[in-house]
This record gives sequence, structure tokens and C-alpha cells, in this order.
Amino acid sequence: MFVIKIINSFRNNLYLMKDEDIERPHAMKVRQGIQDAMTYSLPDKQFSEKTIDLVEIDIALDNLGWNFNNYKILNLTDIHLGQWINPKYLDSLIDYVNTLNIDLITLTGDYFSYNIYDYEECLENSLKKLTAEDGKFGILGNHDHWMNADRIREIFKNSDVIDLSNDVYTLKKGEDCLNLCGVDSYTVCADNLDKVIAKMPKNIPSILLAHEPDFASESSQTGLFDLQISGHSHGGQFIIPGVETTPFRGPNSTKYPVGLYQVRDMLQYTSKGLGTNSFRVRINCKPEVTIITLKTNKKRKITIE
Ligand SMILES: [Fe+2]
Repeated sequence: MFVIKIINSFRNNLYLMKDEDIERPHAMKVRQGIQDAMTYSLPDKQFSEKTIDLVEIDIALDNLGWNFNNYKILNLTDIHLGQWINPKYLDSLIDYVNTLNIDLITLTGDYFSYNIYDYEECLENSLKKLTAEDGKFGILGNHDHWMNADRIREIFKNSDVIDLSNDVYTLKKGEDCLNLCGVDSYTVCADNLDKVIAKMPKNIPSILLAHEPDFASESSQTGLFDLQISGHSHGGQFIIPGVETTPFRGPNSTKYPVGLYQVRDMLQYTSKGLGTNSFRVRINCKPEVTIITLKTNKKRKITIE
């Protein structure tokens, strides 16, 4: 435990950027230097299906209409483009994702690490290629705010990603509805749940996108969300075999760092994400693509003539 505490402290204090660092150009330069050193000193990562963990989970919701039964949501998160996931890898991954027959795509933040200028065009081109029947929806993570939130929102716009930062989009199928909601990054205090709640049509099933998983402690208190989908933790970049959790837990991912949790009446799903932040290494923790298949617990009305 002592060793883990030391490693955690090293990560948190030396490598993970803190809010105040945004005002410190020197601190930013150091982190960009670390990113470049890792990127250029290690061989490029090549995409193949074997390099990712395609996690498929079924989530049953009590009030989900039958028109949304078997509805497939694919989540991508924490791309951190340019650090471990290079533009060519992302492009190939997106070609693969496009073959998976998905209804809707969600993106839960941290598209970059500490360098946006070399990768912004690549991200835009890749996101433009992503396709799903009912569209693509995104929120921002802490790194996106530290880099350039306006530029990322512009990339969303240019690539037809609907920005769900503190916003709601209600999907309709026949007479059934499903709220897809999003909050902006909690780490940088950009979250505004009150705004989301004010916009939400009530008494219909609701899914919340929140970059930081521990936001579930707050969102679950409202009793309004059935499921929250998050990233941010990268699964600690190390999963203990057999236990399927991680000892390495950064700020805002200490309670719900990886996988599925019940938080009050809400389910919380935390993806291991795709990229890396500080160390360019993942041990027993492959980049994750998540497919959530919604199931209804509603009884179907059968008309007997
Ligand atoms: Fe993050």
C-alpha cells in the first residue's frame, strides 16, 4: 500500500496537470516536453482489433420504451490524441467502429493531452468520419478546457458532433423518448447540473454523460438519471488481474474508477478509455471501446382479441 501511495503521489504531483498550472506557462512546457519525449522515443502504436478491449454490456432500464429495447450506444473517451493514440491509429479505430452497426455514439472528453496544435486537424478529420444512425454526441474533459475548449467545440461543430455540455437532447422513437444529457467538466468547475435539470423533459429514462466518474455522487442525488457514462480514469492504466479494479486513482475517479457501479438508484459506467496521460503504458488495461445495449424491464402489453 505504501508503494502505491508513493506512485500515486508522484503521478498526481509531478505529471498530472492541476488547475493552477493553466496559468503557469513553464509548467505547461514541462508537460508538453514529457508528452513529446514519450511520443517520439517509443514506436508508433498500430491499430488492430486485438489492441483494444471491446466491452459489451447490457443495461436494463425500468421505464425504457420498447422502441429503445436493444438500442446500442458506443462510447469513446480519453483519446488524448498524440500521446499513445496517434492520428493513424485513431483513423483505423474509427474505420473499425463504423463497421459495428451502432445506433448512437457518445464521446466523453479529453481529446488531447498537452498539445492541441499538432493534432487538431487530425481529430476533426477522424470525427468527421464517425457515423451512427442517430448521430454523435460529445462533452468536454478537463484537458480540453486546459487546451482550448472553444477550438474543441468548433471541431464538434465541423464534424457534426452535437455538444451536450450542460445540455439535453431528447431522442424519440414512435411514442417512446430517451433523454441524452451531458455535463461539462467537473474538474474545472464547468459543470452545471441545474441547467441540465431545467432543460430535461421529466418522467422519461435519462442517460447522463459526465467526464469525471465521481460526479455520480452528485448526479445520483437528483434521482433523475438512470445511467451515467464516464471516462477520465484510464482504468488507472493498470488493472489488477482477477480483481478487475485499479489501485491508481486520480482526482475525481477515486470512487468509481473502472467498470459498472450502482450509485443510489443510478448505474455508473466508467470506461478505461483509449489513451494515456502521464506514463505511456497500460498494464492489463487495453484501450477500451464500450458498447452499451439498452434493455427494457417494461412489460409489453399484449392485446388478446
Ligand atoms: Fe480527464
